[in-house]
Amino acid sequence: MCGIVGYIGPKQAQEILLEGLSKLEYRGYDSAGLAVYNGETIGVQKSKGRLSELEARLKSRSLPGNLGIGHTRWATHGKPSDENSHPHVDQEQRFAVVHNGIIENYLELKEELQAKGRVFTSETDTEVIAHLLADLWDGDLVSTVQKVVARLEGAYALGIISEHEPDKMVAVRLASPLIVGVGKGENFIASDIPAILKHTRDIYVVEDGEMAVITRDDVQLMKMDGTPVQRDMLHVDWDVVTAEKGGYDHFMLKEIYEQPKAIRDTMAGRVKDGQVDLSREIGLSEDQINKIERIHIVACGTAYHAGLVGKYVIEDLVRIPVETDIASEYRYRNPIITPNTLVVVISQSGETADTLAALREAKKAGARVLAITNVVGSSVAREADDVIITWAGPEIAVASTKAYTSQLIAIYLLGAYFARIRGTRAENELAHIVTALQQLPEKADQVLSDTTSIQEFAQEIARHEDLFFLGRGLDYAVALEGSLKLKEITYIHSEAYAAGELKHGTLALIEEGVPVISLATQEAIYDKMVSNIIEVKARGARVLGLALEGDQELHKSVDRVFTIPKTLPLLTPVLAVIPLQLIAYYACVSRGYDVDKPRNLAKSVTVE
Ligand code: F6R
Repeated sequence: MCGIVGYIGPKQAQEILLEGLSKLEYRGYDSAGLAVYNGETIGVQKSKGRLSELEARLKSRSLPGNLGIGHTRWATHGKPSDENSHPHVDQEQRFAVVHNGIIENYLELKEELQAKGRVFTSETDTEVIAHLLADLWDGDLVSTVQKVVARLEGAYALGIISEHEPDKMVAVRLASPLIVGVGKGENFIASDIPAILKHTRDIYVVEDGEMAVITRDDVQLMKMDGTPVQRDMLHVDWDVVTAEKGGYDHFMLKEIYEQPKAIRDTMAGRVKDGQVDLSREIGLSEDQINKIERIHIVACGTAYHAGLVGKYVIEDLVRIPVETDIASEYRYRNPIITPNTLVVVISQSGETADTLAALREAKKAGARVLAITNVVGSSVAREADDVIITWAGPEIAVASTKAYTSQLIAIYLLGAYFARIRGTRAENELAHIVTALQQLPEKADQVLSDTTSIQEFAQEIARHEDLFFLGRGLDYAVALEGSLKLKEITYIHSEAYAAGELKHGTLALIEEGVPVISLATQEAIYDKMVSNIIEVKARGARVLGLALEGDQELHKSVDRVFTIPKTLPLLTPVLAVIPLQLIAYYACVSRGYDVDKPRNLAKSVTVE
């Protein structure tokens, strides 16, 4: 994790780097720093804490100069501290480096360099790179970087500058995201596009195993061995405002309210004449689709929860056995992958290290991999055989919301597409599902139109330290996501249980006044769910029931009811999750925590 940015051109680098880092804070925000070449030496300023603390330090000692690199950190090796903040320099301060990733062999490199008299000032893995640059310096920056990189094991996106060659910046990528922004007489590097969008819309994606040598007027991409690489420039259409808060108090709230659009956009162009058609993005032939014997869905966190819904949906629509796995488990558990196994990886960022590793394991084992991701050009998107992009747009808040609902839409589309090809559902049934899907944006708008009762409930639970979510079937999958949302931003301890499991242990935790959020949107198992609600109510729980519009029963057994519009049972997760996201949001606001940047978490988990 971490964000890197770099600038070379005629302007003062400091402001451009700070501005870029502010767009990358979602990647980590426990410290930040800059290194700028001032015409003679490299000046460094860094600080533990948020970017604002670095800015404050720069006010008293600014860093003039036109070449610089910057970093926003999410600690991996070494606690958040001034010393461990990047950029890191060698002891003569001739080289400065910013790094996103992990150098796995840093301890042995550190010992080797210390034996040669190099003095380390931090606990980080990154500092070895600065010392290695000095140690292996051969009079040419590019070839020295090549020698350094040859010694590194692990994952990295690096930005490097040197006092020896102040007319250039070198960037290197292995398994961590990196782009180059191309301006007029100025160029940029960054971990992600929003960091440079104010200055240019023309970018190169640096691929794994490549380096970029950047001067004011030129960008050269090459393999690590120096072989030139030709790449088309990408033109980015996003406007900067899309990545800003747009009038909402927090990105999370903005993103919750963007869900109707995200749902609509994710369906756009994929439904023709009432039928789902993914043939343009999925290269699998009808024959290959017919031969799929099993599906593994692999993801982390919220994306994993979308995958749990995916199991229900695909098994129901397509009648193929589906296993949903946590990527960090899947990659190490020797899963049974046959030539006719389809592996579906889901990742908002497309850069999650465990998901990417699982994707690679699956490919190595011979599976075809289909990715559902929100980021075009991300590692997951590039390495998968087939890609369904979720058009949710940039998601800035650490807590994922619109990405989740768009992932659900992608799963429904995939299920309906496969079901049509494999003939597991009649045409008219599928047409009915498509119509219901098309109505979802409007229904999601309806859920968002009056949230007073949700806000009241959120205020109430904000005083508690423990909470439970209950659901059965698809409601259980949504309960897991609601619980994750709540705990990650409010720090309230919460658990989600399959309601049928209550009697097998959990019921012991229910006592007077404990808040329980019970989902009862699945008609087929409604009565069973109500029985479970009565059981917790009888033990004194304070229950919010989530039901379908028109429900006449639930209010008899719970303290409050919130309803969502009716849709097909299979599609309810898209609507049911919204009140749960809002409960987490308003409870977090009520407790006074930082909604968009919860403690200990970062948006994109690019390390294991
Ligand atoms: C929770 C959340 C995380 C991510 C997880 C996977 O709100 O956002 O649990 O879902 O880190 O991230 P992606 O989808 O980028 O692979």
